Amino acid sequence: MMELSNKRVLLGVSGSIAAYKSAELVRLLRKQGAEVRVVMTSTATEFIQPLTFQALSGNIVYSAWDDADRGDGMGHIELARWADVIVVAPASADLLARLRQGMANDLLTTLCLASASTIAVAPAMNRLMWDNAATKENLAVLKQRGIHVLGPGAGGQACGEVGLGRMLEPEQLVQGISGLFSSGILSGAKLLLTAGPTREPIDAMRFLSNRSSGKMGYALAQAAIEAGADVTLVSGPVALATPDRVKRLDVNSADEMYEAVMSEVAGSDVFICAAAVADYKPANPSKEKVKRKDNNVDLALTQNRDIVASVTALPDKPFTVGFAAETSDIEAHARAKLKRKGLDLIAANQVGDGQGAEVDENAMTLYWADGSQHLEKTSKAKLARQMVTIIGEHYRATTRT
Ligand code: C5P
Repeated sequence: MMELSNKRVLLGVSGSIAAYKSAELVRLLRKQGAEVRVVMTSTATEFIQPLTFQALSGNIVYSAWDDADRGDGMGHIELARWADVIVVAPASADLLARLRQGMANDLLTTLCLASASTIAVAPAMNRLMWDNAATKENLAVLKQRGIHVLGPGAGGQACGEVGLGRMLEPEQLVQGISGLFSSGILSGAKLLLTAGPTREPIDAMRFLSNRSSGKMGYALAQAAIEAGADVTLVSGPVALATPDRVKRLDVNSADEMYEAVMSEVAGSDVFICAAAVADYKPANPSKEKVKRKDNNVDLALTQNRDIVASVTALPDKPFTVGFAAETSDIEAHARAKLKRKGLDLIAANQVGDGQGAEVDENAMTLYWADGSQHLEKTSKAKLARQMVTIIGEHYRATTRT
C-alpha cells in the first residue's frame, strides 16, 4: 500500500553533509506516492547540487529568494500553502536556532513561518553540537510549538566521532513522515462518489429538485483525499468549490448522473452514493417553455433508474455505501434499504425539522449486515472523516478475505 499517496511534501534541505541522504529520501517519498518539492538553503547547495533534487523530484528546486517566483505559479506563500507537510531534513543546528527565533532570513525559514501545515525536522549535526545546551533548548521550544522531531540517530559521524546526532536513514524518515498523517486508510483506493441534488426537467425553464446542498458529499470527497484515495466526484448542481485533487464531473439530471457513474465505475474500489437522486422525473418534458393555462395541470411522473442498485448489480461491484434520509423508524428503513440495494454499508440520518440537508452539522448511524455505529452530532467535515475511517476499515476487511 502506498502510504503517502496524494500527499504533498515540501522538503527543506539545510547545510549538512547528511544532505546527500535527502536525495534518496526524495526517491523513497515519491515511491510511496508523495509529490515532492525541494527548498534548499544556500549552504545546502554547497553540499549537493540542486539539479540532483530537480531530477529526483521532477520539479524545479527553490533556493534563492526569488526562486519561488520563477514562473511556475508558486510564490512563497503559494508554496507554503501547497504543502501538506514541511520536512526539514537535514536540519542543521543553525537552521533549528533560526526556526526557534522565528527568523525569516531565507526562503526555507520564511516558508516555515508562513505555513499552517505540519512541520517536522530531522536534526543532523556533530554529537557535541547536539549535546549543547543551546541546541537542547531550541529543540524543546520547537517541540512545544508542535514541531515534530524525527531522530536523530546514533552512530559514526562524518567528523570521525561516534554518538548522537546522525540524521535518521531515509527509510526511517519515510516511516516517520507517514506517521504524521492520521489516516492513510484509503491509500491507493479508487473511490467514486455522487453528491448533491438532481434536477429533473419539466420544460426548458423548470425542473423538479430537492433541498440537498451537497455539503456531506463534498466533505466526504475531502476526507477521502486526506485518507489517500483517488477520488472522482459526480456532482449535481451545487454552490460548492471542488476540493483540491478531486476529479469532478458535473451533471444535472438523474439520467446524466446514471450515465456518468456507469462510465466511471469500472476499476473503482469504493462507491459512495451521497447524492439525493430524484426518484421520479417528468414523463414528458417539453423542449419549449410551457405556457400558463387557466385550468390545473397534471404532471405525469415516471421512475428514475436506481443508480446505487445498478452499481451493486454489476458482477465486479465495488464496496458500496448508500445513504438513507428518513423521518421515522430509521433503523428498520435503513436495514431494509441496505438489503434491497445490495449495499455493504448505509449511513442513516433523520431529516426534517432543520436536520439533514442544507445544514452544516449532522448526526448519523452507520449500519452494516451485523453491526452499527452511531456518530454524534458534529460538523459535516468531522462526520465525513469519521465515516471515511469506518468505510476504510470495512473496505480493507472485505479485501483481505
Ligand atoms: O431509496 P432512497 O432514495 O431512500 O435511497 C437512498 C440511497 O439510494 C442514496 O444512497 C441515494 O444516493 C441512492 N439512490 C440512487 N438512485 C436513485 C435513488 C436513490 O442511487 N434513483
